[in-house]
Amino acid sequence: MTTTLWVEASPKGDAALSSQLAQAYLEGQDYERFSVWGEDVLRFGRDAAIAKFAPLFGESVTDEQQAIWQQVLDEIERVRRFDRLVVSAPMWNWHVPHALKAWIDVIVQPIASFTLNDKGEHVGTLGEGKPLQLILTRSSAYDGRHAELQDFQRPYLEYVFGMLGYQVETLVIEPTTRWTPAEREQMRTEAMASVRALAE
Ligand SMILES: Cc1cc2nc3c(=O)[nH]c(=O)nc-3n(C[C@H](O)[C@H](O)[C@H](O)COP(=O)(O)O)c2cc1C
Repeated sequence: MTTTLWVEASPKGDAALSSQLAQAYLEGQDYERFSVWGEDVLRFGRDAAIAKFAPLFGESVTDEQQAIWQQVLDEIERVRRFDRLVVSAPMWNWHVPHALKAWIDVIVQPIASFTLNDKGEHVGTLGEGKPLQLILTRSSAYDGRHAELQDFQRPYLEYVFGMLGYQVETLVIEPTTRWTPAEREQMRTEAMASVRALAE
C-alpha cells in the first residue's frame, strides 16, 4: 500500500481552499495529514543553524546543538518513510506561507536530503524519484499579463522539491477571489472538478 504524507500549508484548516482541494485529491485514500502550523513542528533556529555548519568549519557543537541536529535528521527520516507527498499551499505575498518555508528549512540538508554530483549538480537523496503533487492557490492570475504580478510560489516549490529528488507535478487554481457568493461557489466547483480529474 502506498503511504502518503499531506503537507498542509494554509493555517485555515478545513476552511482553506487549498486544503479542500487536497482532501478531494486524496479522497478514499489513506494519508497522514501534517500541518506545518502545528505547535510541535520543529523550528530551525540558532542552535540548528550553528550545528549545520560546525562540521564544515571543524567546530565542536554543544549537547543542545547535537540534540537539535538529531531532531532535524529524525524529521527528514520521518518524511523519507512516505512513498508520496502532497503539498497544498496558498500564495502569501508572492511566495509561500512562512510556516511552510520554516519546515522546508528543516528538511533541506546536505547529505541527509540532497548532495552534489561530480559536476556540481544537485542530486536529491530524499525524494529518489517519488511523486510529489503540488496543489497551489492564489487570488490573482499569474499569466504574465501584469508585470507587477511575480510568482515566487510555484517556481520555488518546484525547484526545492525537485532538488530533493521528487518527481513534482503541479496544479494551480487561480484567481480565487470572486466578489459574489455565486461566483465563489462556481469557482470552487470548477476547482474541485479539476482536482478530481487529476486524481483519476
Ligand atoms: C497573508 C496573505 C497574503 C496573500 N498574498 C497573496 C499574493 O501575494 N498573491 C495572490 O495572488 N494572493 C495572495 N493571497 C490570497 C490567497 O493566496 C488566496 O486567497 C488563496 O486562495 C487562499 O488559499 P487558502 O484558502 O488555501 O488559504 C494572500 C492571502 C493571505 C492571507
